[in-house]
Amino acid sequence: MTHPLEALTPDELRTAAALYREARGEADPLFVSASLSEPSREELATLEAGGQVPRRVRIVAVAGPCALAEAVVSLTDRRVESLEVIEPARPPVLFEEAIGAIVAVKEHPDWQAAMRRRGIDDFDRVQLDPWPPGTFGLPHEEGRRLTKVISYLREHPEDNGYAHPIEGVLAHVDLGTGEVLFVEDLGVVPIPEESGSYYPEHQVALRTDLKPIEITQPEGPSFTVEGNLARWQRWQFRVTLDPIEGLVLHQIGYEDGGRLRPIMHRASLSEMVVPYGSTDPMHRWKNAFDAGEWGMGRMVNSLELGCDCLGEIHYFDAPMLTERGDVNVVTNAICMHEEDYSILWKHHDMHSFRTEVRRQRRLVVSAIYTVGNYEYAFYWYFYLDGSIQLEVKLTGIIQPQAVAPGADPGNANLIAPGLAAPHHQHLFCVRLDMAVDGFTNSVVEVNAEPQPPGPDNEWHNGIVSVATTFETELQARREVNPATSRSWRIVNPRRVNRLGQPVSYKLIPQSSPTMLAGDDSWVARRAGFARHNLWVTPYHPDERRAAGDHANQSGGGDGLPRWTAADRPITDTDIVVWHTFGVTHLVRPEDWPVMPVESTGFLLVPFGFFDRNPALDVPPPSSGHCHT
Ligand code: CU
Repeated sequence: MTHPLEALTPDELRTAAALYREARGEADPLFVSASLSEPSREELATLEAGGQVPRRVRIVAVAGPCALAEAVVSLTDRRVESLEVIEPARPPVLFEEAIGAIVAVKEHPDWQAAMRRRGIDDFDRVQLDPWPPGTFGLPHEEGRRLTKVISYLREHPEDNGYAHPIEGVLAHVDLGTGEVLFVEDLGVVPIPEESGSYYPEHQVALRTDLKPIEITQPEGPSFTVEGNLARWQRWQFRVTLDPIEGLVLHQIGYEDGGRLRPIMHRASLSEMVVPYGSTDPMHRWKNAFDAGEWGMGRMVNSLELGCDCLGEIHYFDAPMLTERGDVNVVTNAICMHEEDYSILWKHHDMHSFRTEVRRQRRLVVSAIYTVGNYEYAFYWYFYLDGSIQLEVKLTGIIQPQAVAPGADPGNANLIAPGLAAPHHQHLFCVRLDMAVDGFTNSVVEVNAEPQPPGPDNEWHNGIVSVATTFETELQARREVNPATSRSWRIVNPRRVNRLGQPVSYKLIPQSSPTMLAGDDSWVARRAGFARHNLWVTPYHPDERRAAGDHANQSGGGDGLPRWTAADRPITDTDIVVWHTFGVTHLVRPEDWPVMPVESTGFLLVPFGFFDRNPALDVPPPSSGHCHT
């Protein structure tokens, strides 16, 4: 019997697609996604008690210009359990339709005329990038699924087109019909000419003084893998790849004294947004929701040993249903390996001269996604001291604009001659389905504050730890505050450590921004999740996507703002923690022509979850490596 959280196999995907076709009576539907339909809390309890739980697939397919069909298919019973048509709702931009849009734009006389006005006659030299169009309350948006298409010049097939944006030309295409609705020409700006090549053969000289670093583990790695279940040190969890969310970790637990203690039931990217802060009509509509509008998981890279990951690697493949119902297996989609991570703890006793030092090590689970010009790399880390970290690495090519020589680039920074990059943000919202020693959790905000001066603080040096338990959802809409070292502890009020304190994990945010776009902007309404760094909701199986289930061309207001408006109780209950983090990207010249990794993320560290340092039992480094 396959575990209900085991990753879907190619055969299962094919079976699910066939059952869907049969139930809908459609020979060749356009599929959006097929993902694991995860068992309910009750079913998991059944499973733990030795019962059986069906394996299910959730299928989403196009069912009209602005309609989607959603089916839950039981693989165990080989039947469609539920089938629903949702309208209005748009899928993420589909590859087949995006390619159709590119072809249609190239053939359109208005676009061709706009190119000729810029001296371009050879249309094969033009790279077209379809974008999710956003929503701006315009009449042509209604009843259609759309794309906006931007043009770039490529001097040769391997040229970096982003070095040569063809400013001012914006083609609007109906993805459903493939029709070009209209082409805007907002004015000619000289096309920047300088090459943006990052290929080795185009660099003046390559460095010759980097000696090899080889990572070897002669006895193999310290983890084991069984299906999608990974075990390393005291940790265990399952790994899947969702077409929309990308990398998903399930049932993260830590073995402590012979008992597996749950920490998180599920952890994933829920949604993200890249709002551009340019007021220029060519760029002001750019707001990429790279999960909901494209499907982050659909963009996953096939990773290469020695390039993307170094060392003794275990790869997980990701079988995915194609838009026409075949299966495409992305090999090496998820990388797992161990990394040495400097020291774990150390002390030199100055009286006995005895030194004890331990090496820190972490288990890395990662996946990299390419969304058009940009790369997002997600790294989950598990540490020997019980800590968990998510690091998102931002790289790839920034979204450019052409500026006339000497002109003010506006809400953008100049990065090369005639080339600028608009100010923008990358805001990620992770959904952390917490289960710290069980599902009944609360969230406590802790601020470190100066103690008010007074008779009990005569020297004005007092620091107090001010803890506030969030009672309801509206109280838990919070922002980071580095000045008070603000953190949020996810506590289990029903389990205490040896000191009588409730066990907890502490979410340590970075000094992440929230969305800068105004409250009444379209993007703020559509990506309400980005208005706060923290949200807490009572668990509800349907609440998965922070901007609502169908973010592409959404009207706004859905997701976290809508759910939490109910102000439901969130103490000592089954809760989900949502953390929005990221960066405001004021682009540097050094980010061009390809951006060195910028990183963002957060930490989850045990706080009274263990009775003391849980890593005292890590043995000293073996003698071959450490001479004491
Ligand atoms: Cu950026």
